[in-house]
Amino acid sequence: MLFIFIACKTLKNDLFSQEGQNYMGIPEFGIRADLKILDQFPVIPPALSKTGKCFLTFNKMGFDINSTNLSWVAEEFINFCQKHPGEYVLDVGAGYGFLSRHVLSKGMFVISNDIEIQHLLYSRKRVKDPDQISRLFLNTNPFPYLDIPKNSLRAVILHRILHFLPGEEIDLGLENVKHWLKKGGKIYIMVMSSEHVGYCQKILPAFEERKKNGDPWPGMYLDVPKYLPTQAYNLPSQLHIMDQEVLRNALERHGYEIERIGYVSMHGFGTETARDGKEAIGIIGIKKN
Ligand SMILES: C[S@@+](CC[C@H](N)C(=O)[O-])C[C@H]1O[C@@H](n2cnc3c(N)ncnc32)[C@H](O)[C@@H]1O
Repeated sequence: MLFIFIACKTLKNDLFSQEGQNYMGIPEFGIRADLKILDQFPVIPPALSKTGKCFLTFNKMGFDINSTNLSWVAEEFINFCQKHPGEYVLDVGAGYGFLSRHVLSKGMFVISNDIEIQHLLYSRKRVKDPDQISRLFLNTNPFPYLDIPKNSLRAVILHRILHFLPGEEIDLGLENVKHWLKKGGKIYIMVMSSEHVGYCQKILPAFEERKKNGDPWPGMYLDVPKYLPTQAYNLPSQLHIMDQEVLRNALERHGYEIERIGYVSMHGFGTETARDGKEAIGIIGIKKN
């Protein structure tokens, strides 16, 4: 285990340093996944969650769905990609990479981004087709601090990652994504909802009060051990939750046109029996100009 840890740290330091990136691939997008040197590093298979329905993220940043049961946000992202083969897309907080691999199979060039290199190495190992692996880039920069060229991406997806970030970083990220997208490009977001049945009634009064007082991010921060005790074992101690109005306002503040917004059901996951389909929310925004 110690060897694996040291090997990964070394790999990250060597290959993802500025110097390494310039040498190994397109610097702004990350490292090319087809580099043979990456084969030398051990890949740890992901562990299953207690419910057996998801993979545990290696860095305790939640649960990776890795499923064929896709959210409508993921489905719409895939459908959009299908219309633009050969273009670049960014999968932020890609986890074990099921969405990245899905759109690789549709002919996209994919920048798979995650702060945990083990996730990206596992995903890379699962890509067997040489053509697909030549279109995959691995990027470990923390969102929103990526260095993507302006007007280079057709789409960006942030699938179940924004609840780990404070409001200021989300605002910066939405602004950055707008610069990275081409005109007509789209942003796809799925994030934890303030209306989750596990805690909704308990947090709602304070949430609504902060909203009324003009706080653009009234859902920072949910106390995870208190409100999500059965999932706390693989989550940070706080999460950032939001409702549709908060998310819509955020995208509109940064000049996106809203194409679709709504709840995303996580009915089949978790342990609460009373889940009602309001566990998460999703939004699609378009960069009009
Ligand atoms: C709950 S998982 C989601 C994985 C996948 N997108 C999904 O929907 O199943 C969140 C992922 O975001 C990554 N992550 C957290 N903060 C990040 C950041 N600032 N930049 C990039 N990735 C981040 C974590 O390492 C983790 O793999």
